[in-house]
Amino acid sequence: MATPGRRACLQYLIHLAQDNLDFSPPCCFRERQYIYCQNISGAKDDIMTVVCFLSAFELWGHGRTHSELRTSLRNYPAEQMLPFLHKDSTYRINVYTFNKTLDFTERIKRIDAMDYLPFEGLVSLKSPQHVFCLLEDYGTDPNNIPEHPYYIYFGRWIADGQRELIRSHSVKNRHFIGNTSMDAGLSFIMANHAKVKEHDLVFDPFVGTGSLLVACSHFGAYVCGSDIDYNTIHGKGRSSRKDQKWRGPDENIRANLRQYGTEKLYVDVMVSDASKPVWRETALFDAIITDPPYGIRESTRRTGSHKETTKCSHVAVSQSYHLSEILADMLNFSAHRLVMGGRLVYWLPVYRPEYCEEMVPLHPCLLLISNCEQMLSSHTSRRLITMEKVKEPEGLDSLAHLSNPRFSAYQGHDTFREKYFSGLNKRLNKESKSDVKGDSIIPGSDNDRWQAPKENKHEPIH
Ligand SMILES: C[S@@+](CC[C@H](N)C(=O)[O-])C[C@H]1O[C@@H](n2cnc3c(N)ncnc32)[C@H](O)[C@@H]1O
Repeated sequence: MATPGRRACLQYLIHLAQDNLDFSPPCCFRERQYIYCQNISGAKDDIMTVVCFLSAFELWGHGRTHSELRTSLRNYPAEQMLPFLHKDSTYRINVYTFNKTLDFTERIKRIDAMDYLPFEGLVSLKSPQHVFCLLEDYGTDPNNIPEHPYYIYFGRWIADGQRELIRSHSVKNRHFIGNTSMDAGLSFIMANHAKVKEHDLVFDPFVGTGSLLVACSHFGAYVCGSDIDYNTIHGKGRSSRKDQKWRGPDENIRANLRQYGTEKLYVDVMVSDASKPVWRETALFDAIITDPPYGIRESTRRTGSHKETTKCSHVAVSQSYHLSEILADMLNFSAHRLVMGGRLVYWLPVYRPEYCEEMVPLHPCLLLISNCEQMLSSHTSRRLITMEKVKEPEGLDSLAHLSNPRFSAYQGHDTFREKYFSGLNKRLNKESKSDVKGDSIIPGSDNDRWQAPKENKHEPIH
């Protein structure tokens, strides 16, 4: 934490939701459940799109004690403070405590003690123009709550995040779902990391049931996707729901967007193999957001032809699609089809005992922006990787992965799967054999992560 001193530019304090602590946006300094940011552009609008933020404050002062807080607040530039304190304004002060409950009298005492600030406006509890917050942090251990807070902050409330979206878009109530539908919270976090905004064009090359398109369309982006699975794209075949054998007539991605009022942003989805892109050679997409098949919960296949090995005429066959190839294809595709500054956001599965940062695949045209972990078990996790296009591909850029040791870590695909599953299976055996079964699993939710590997039955590839 920076020592209290005269601050040249605005600082923001962001209170993160506990369940998404690991997914705070890049370029922020994080401490416990807070992050500090500088230079949030268009602060309020930006914050109101972020699902892992609970609230954001313009930070006016902070310290380990109330006396340090007072010193810090006295150093806060008056010209930044006074517009919110003048006599024609109305205000309210809220007291938030973390890991401790203060009674009403204690709260009032805390508010009264702030009278050294030059408030000249009128208090309005119901509809104040400005809301100020005193935040006291008592740590995270409910069995060890200190008498005095570890840290105290004071600031002006700017906006709340979008936690409500997670509930309103829960896959539990979604029209069309599958075994690997991404949960709503993580889908929105991916869209946030990709900086998806109104009028963007977003593509998911492994679209599945379109959960990521749902999230991106919520932020006003036009969305499209592709998947090798004919049944998924056409909403046919077996249902993933407990009490339903076959998918209904209108179970498809378009209907999902209709459910959330964003159908007008649906461009289309198509059956297509990501290893053989059908898009014209030009930068098209503002973001590519995807949850590729790693063979962890679904098979990794691509199309091929006997012609590739023999001289006979074309007969479509399905071939294995290894992790290192999926990654190389995805990065190359993004380097070519993203607009400059566009972002690729995807999940990388990781066997934790062997993971190191040098295993995150790079590309000469894509800058690694962030790399956040979601732990699945003591041995397994997946990492949310965000990259930004910084240069147009040229020369041998598309072949860079061939000599890049970062990709070779994923060449032993089957070995990776075995190791990955040995971690999951241990956890499976320990946790419960009974309640993680077939249809009781909520797709994309926590318990879904312990699901034993399931091979998708693909229709023949046409
Ligand atoms: C992890 S799932 C994506 C789930 C999706 N995010 C959702 O919310 O439903 C991966 C998807 O990749 C598809 N897939 C597998 N191999 C593919 C390939 N070669 N090209 C395109 N899609 C492929 C699978 O059919 C599967 O639907």
